[in-house]
Amino acid sequence: DLQGAIFDLDGVITDTAEFHYQAWCQLAQEEGLPFDRAMNESLRGVPRRDSLLKILGDRSASEDQLQAMMARKNEYYIRLLQQITPTDLLPGTLALLQEIRQAKVKVALGSASKNARTVLNKLGITHYFDVIADGYSVERSKPAPDLFLFAAQHLGIAPHQTVVFEDAKAGIQAALAAQMWTVGLGPQERVGAAHVVLPSLARATWGQIFRALGQKAT
Ligand code: G6P
Ligand code: MG
Repeated sequence: DLQGAIFDLDGVITDTAEFHYQAWCQLAQEEGLPFDRAMNESLRGVPRRDSLLKILGDRSASEDQLQAMMARKNEYYIRLLQQITPTDLLPGTLALLQEIRQAKVKVALGSASKNARTVLNKLGITHYFDVIADGYSVERSKPAPDLFLFAAQHLGIAPHQTVVFEDAKAGIQAALAAQMWTVGLGPQERVGAAHVVLPSLARATWGQIFRALGQKAT
């Protein structure tokens, strides 16, 4: 049975996509590069460096220039993060976290973000997590299974007893590659590969998710 739950952060627990958009927008504008919401959508779950490389397209840049641009984007992003409060938790998140903990299931964060701890602190939910796996934890990013395996290992729970909540295609791929159960949040074309797909965590209950996954197992 399920003993561990791993939550992605951006797009699952809170919607930071808009802040990432604004921060990348500012950088792109300063650099004279095209950037829009559709492109931002394609950066869901994509690490900072890969995101920048996508935005640069065929524009070449030295390693120093890349580092400087990443630092600048992050400065803009961190500035925007200051306005986050517990009211920015996505609907259903808190109730589900509480229910999961009550069921004695261990909880980890599995996010590619290097700002994950800052965001959890701003949201006031750091104490719900037994383990925090973030952008500093492993080398290979999603869709590689490494981050989720790291989280499960530190929880002390086997992958097949762990469920991952994700909103990104690469995140679902990573969780499946780790041999974990998956709950995809969002449209079919993005997270359709997950064992269970929900529009969001609003009104989601652990009991309902547990049963839905159980049906897949038989
Ligand atoms: C998450 C977000 C991405 C972001 C990445 C790195 O996966 O969905 O949009 O680029 O984290 O975040 P960071 O805060 O380290 O730049
Ligand atoms: Mg995400």
